Amino acid sequence: MTDALKFAFGPFTAPSRGVLVVFCDDGLKFGSATAKTLGSATDLVARAAKAERFTGKSGTSLELIVPAGLKVSRLVVAGVGKAADLTAKDFLKLGGMAMGKLPASASDLAIFADLPGSAMTAEQAADMAQGAKLRAYKFDLYKTTKKDDEATAANRTVTVGTADLAGARKAFAARDVIADGVLMARDLVNEPANVLYPVEFARRAGALKKVGVTVEVLDVKAMKKLGMNALLGVAQGSVHEGRVVVMRWNGGKKNDAPLAFIGKGVCFDTGGISIKPAASMEDMKGDMAGAACVVGLMHALAARKAKVNAVGLVGCVENMPDGNAQRPGDIVKSMSGQTIEIINTDAEGRLVLADVLWYAAKRFKPKFMIDLATLTGAIIVALGQEYAGMFTNNNELSHRLHLSGEETGELVWRMPLSPVYDKMLESRFADMKHTGGSRWGGAITAAQFIQRFVADDIPWAHLDIAGTGFDSRQSDINKSWGSGWGVRLLDRLVADYYEK
Ligand code: BES
Ligand code: MN
Ligand code: ZN
Repeated sequence: MTDALKFAFGPFTAPSRGVLVVFCDDGLKFGSATAKTLGSATDLVARAAKAERFTGKSGTSLELIVPAGLKVSRLVVAGVGKAADLTAKDFLKLGGMAMGKLPASASDLAIFADLPGSAMTAEQAADMAQGAKLRAYKFDLYKTTKKDDEATAANRTVTVGTADLAGARKAFAARDVIADGVLMARDLVNEPANVLYPVEFARRAGALKKVGVTVEVLDVKAMKKLGMNALLGVAQGSVHEGRVVVMRWNGGKKNDAPLAFIGKGVCFDTGGISIKPAASMEDMKGDMAGAACVVGLMHALAARKAKVNAVGLVGCVENMPDGNAQRPGDIVKSMSGQTIEIINTDAEGRLVLADVLWYAAKRFKPKFMIDLATLTGAIIVALGQEYAGMFTNNNELSHRLHLSGEETGELVWRMPLSPVYDKMLESRFADMKHTGGSRWGGAITAAQFIQRFVADDIPWAHLDIAGTGFDSRQSDINKSWGSGWGVRLLDRLVADYYEK
């Protein structure tokens, strides 16, 4: 949704217009390429630094408007603290920060991938470009009027100065399409529910065909035939029919079992008959953030031609109160054959996942299944907006997800699963209830419920992203309401452990 923004790599030459961002350490020292470009402006920077008490501390910056000796309209000196202390994760943030220094009215941004001591590597330069791309995203599709200072200049270009042009271009190719996947997910989450209802969600997922993904859509008739009554029960109160979308990318060996990613796609969650209070209900247009992540991830994997077989499955429904809506007390038979007594129709996500997880396991016999869902308010109470909750039956998957989280900054924290919670799901009338009855451990009882629909004990992880999928903490690389959380995490997981 971002206006056309071009990314390029170029040599360390002084740009003739726009904004230039350079880096210095906490001794106000520059890399050699930067020092050469600044030339006589170096003295100006030193004086400005003194006047502003800028010392090059990490996260701080100094701005000079129309600096003498340079042609740019603005020079930004960004502090990195001790250059030797920078870790791989920092470059993405530096790129985001640099992008944040480009006023809407300006069109050219140059960033020098240069540090005191040494020039950055091609990977670091490419990380910066990816960070800038993620930061530049803006969802303003429905703003018909813009103030002059908000209007974004046309044909914006970000040029990252580097000593290794070919290397940086090569390293950016994958990062570029991964970022596209994140932005795709953000778009889906930001779209309002009158535009993005299940049929439209499925149509948009169809765009993945362009990058070689096979996209298949199950309509109500097909779902009825499969016995997906848990999902259909949620969908029945809406004038918008439910859909399941199956996306397949085969970049691995022919007979390798695929990795499966499953997303909750509740396009709007009113709570149904157990209706939610009015305050912030508008946020429930984002209750399909899990599904959006799966679509963005499938884009990333396919577009960078990941050497892996992967399937993405999303269950899309709208949860509405209606004369035909599901009632508390109703009993539905899930695709697995297990019967469920409906208690609170606002606990709809787990019902959708129950059928999609079962279907995914039976049809694809995957190596593992990871589901993402904005499932419970309780996980926000437990972990806030920093970590997503992770529930898993597999220690190796837990370890790998944890490490991928640390690498990408999309953090997960393991929560318990245990039969000791099963009592809370006992029903008088059916095989089980779908909520625990009390609010205690609400994210855990939800996960415990879902686990009953993981067929054949396949390695499985459930990520409760209610706190991270939308309206989450803003950062140097995300100023969007819909965060696109999880695309980078899962892409990294696949790249680091499953493409060998
Ligand atoms: N979509 C909500 C969870 C949610 C709440 C996500 C706030 C993001 C922000 C989910 O369907 C829901 O309503 N969960 C209930 C479950 C309860 C009825 C057992 C909840 O968390 O209150
Ligand atoms: Mn709900
Ligand atoms: Zn929900």
